[in-house]
Amino acid sequence: MLNLLFSPLKIGNLEIKNRLVVSPMVCNFCTAEGEATERFISYMAEKAKGGWGLIITENYAITPEARGFAHMACIYDDKHIDSHRKMVSRVHEHDAKIIMQITHAGRQTNHLMNTGVQPIAPSAIPCPANQETPREMCVGEIKEIVSRFGDAAKRAKAAGFDGVEIHGGHGYLLAEFMSPYSNKRVDEYGGVLMNRLRIIREVIDDIRAKTSPDFPILFRISSMELMPGGRTIQDTMAIAAVLEKWGICSIDISAGTYGDDSTIPSMAVSRAWNVDSAEEVKKAVKIPVMAVGRIYDPIVAEMVLASGKADLVVMGRGSLADPALPKKAQAGEFDKIRECVGCLQGCIGKLIAGFPIACLVNPQLGFEDQVIEKTDKPKRVCVAGGGPAGIEAARGAAMRGHDVTVFEQSDRLGGAFGIAAYPPYKGDIASYISWARTELAGLGVHVRMGEKAAADIVRSEKFDAVIVATGAKSFVPDSIKADAGLIDARDLITAQAGEPGQNCVVLGGGLVGVEAAVHLGWLGRKVTILEMRDKIAADIEGGVLPSLLELVERYGIKVITGAVISEVSGGLVVYEHEGQRHRIKADTVVSALGLKPDNALADELSGWGKVVVVGDASVPQKALEAIRNGFVTGVSI
Ligand SMILES: Cc1cc2nc3c(=O)[nH]c(=O)nc-3n(C[C@H](O)[C@H](O)[C@H](O)COP(=O)(O)O)c2cc1C
Ligand code: SF4
Repeated sequence: MLNLLFSPLKIGNLEIKNRLVVSPMVCNFCTAEGEATERFISYMAEKAKGGWGLIITENYAITPEARGFAHMACIYDDKHIDSHRKMVSRVHEHDAKIIMQITHAGRQTNHLMNTGVQPIAPSAIPCPANQETPREMCVGEIKEIVSRFGDAAKRAKAAGFDGVEIHGGHGYLLAEFMSPYSNKRVDEYGGVLMNRLRIIREVIDDIRAKTSPDFPILFRISSMELMPGGRTIQDTMAIAAVLEKWGICSIDISAGTYGDDSTIPSMAVSRAWNVDSAEEVKKAVKIPVMAVGRIYDPIVAEMVLASGKADLVVMGRGSLADPALPKKAQAGEFDKIRECVGCLQGCIGKLIAGFPIACLVNPQLGFEDQVIEKTDKPKRVCVAGGGPAGIEAARGAAMRGHDVTVFEQSDRLGGAFGIAAYPPYKGDIASYISWARTELAGLGVHVRMGEKAAADIVRSEKFDAVIVATGAKSFVPDSIKADAGLIDARDLITAQAGEPGQNCVVLGGGLVGVEAAVHLGWLGRKVTILEMRDKIAADIEGGVLPSLLELVERYGIKVITGAVISEVSGGLVVYEHEGQRHRIKADTVVSALGLKPDNALADELSGWGKVVVVGDASVPQKALEAIRNGFVTGVSI
């Protein structure tokens, strides 16, 4: 079924065993000096073990100032060679090939990341995201940077890498030169296309001169910059044709630049959305073309190849969510593949906040060096609650060899996380819960649906330990006098609260409230959100936020911030705004005012034995934290 995906291909003289490529991703696992740590090495080796044919590494900084992140890999000095050589040999043990991506961040960095200097760029224009005004490079400096690219490639070869990928995408230095959006020079490095490409030509020539005639040089480029005056797909096709002539042996078609959300799109963006751009580039060149961007399914990947739109399929977050995706796909174990849900919480969310990356659905990401050993004292473990924290606690405990039973009082796993999948653009979330159901069955976990873990069951069935993962309950603060007509946002979204009326008011403009309002807007209802803070959606991930706010606007949802609600009675909502008392009449009033932990079972079992509370039952938290918390508790019970 996946004949093309698992057929070999040559990039230059380099033979790749299949068409599955790991996309370059900074993980912030290296030392502050950019050397490979054991954590970094194990993380990379895990992917090679998982069956990927080619791994393109995170972007390695070619000078200390080229860095965009504090703990990214570096290759600006010979001192970097040894630790990265160790990583390469661990990857090669599994018959995977590895290419080093080399980069200079240009204006897309800041003094906190790049040794405290002013960023450099073709022109002194700040990028819309970082907003630190760069210094325009003089010609001498351009020549120096060109030579540092060549030196980096020479070191990559010495460390055993199978080739290099020049990072010409995402608005970093080389992309800045290529684009009239960021390059306003009037010398030989600016103006017409071939002038804007001059630095690229020099970089390629320098790498070639410092490596060998057959050392593979790949190039990553954004298909479109999606910014006013930025490059289009037509420009990119022209550049690709030129790059092929200059000896580039494969071209990797990504998208976007800083300040636009297309490089790492959230779950709000359709799957495989950038493949058609790869197809356009394929019309311009004969070298292998790679497609990337929300491709997570091996069958979709096979179709990308079968339709001739690309020669290789590149997966970034798909490989974070499940490093063993290729092996599972090859074995036909499709329901065992844990897909990325496009949440942006763990990977890019953590990276931007300055931390090592994590993954919401893969709590072992970044901890690949920690081996889970079977216990020689198996226990009977009760997990109360089948939300994400409970699922992961059960999984962790079962991996250790414990006899685990999950009690879930509803008719499905997932808890509040399952409800989070209901808004139109969040369907990906359901894939994690579906995967977890298969996974728990495979691990021999007993799942008792429609049953609540009560204290008497725990005692009578002689469990040795209890993990309380009963989640959180909605609550209405004491300051609000509310009658029984108030509908819980979760019941509204799952259609358990019946048909909403025509005029609706949602109390609370956090994630749940805004999603409930959007849901009502989608159903054609007239909606007002009342939020006490000065903005709605204050608790939502940056990447997902624009899509949600766009829906708020599309459905004409009225937003009143700074609203202090005092009473809800008979559909009348009373609130204070800017010192004035107001009333709104609604057919349906929805409550999304907050959550409080539901850990009654822990209280009932007080003094009984080993009881641990995880996830929202401990303190309301993000799914990313609840999942890791559940897993760690499970493996250490
Ligand atoms: C945490 C993270 C770090 C990234 N770092 C890089 C990088 O170093 N170089 C690069 O070209 N792209 C980088 N990207 C972009 C990815 O390589 C990829 O193009 C993007 O995530 C879209 O593909 P996906 O939907 O398969 O994840 C990064 C993405 C993520 C999530
Ligand atoms: S954190 Fe979210 S977006 Fe990132 S890889 Fe994991 S599931 Fe995907």
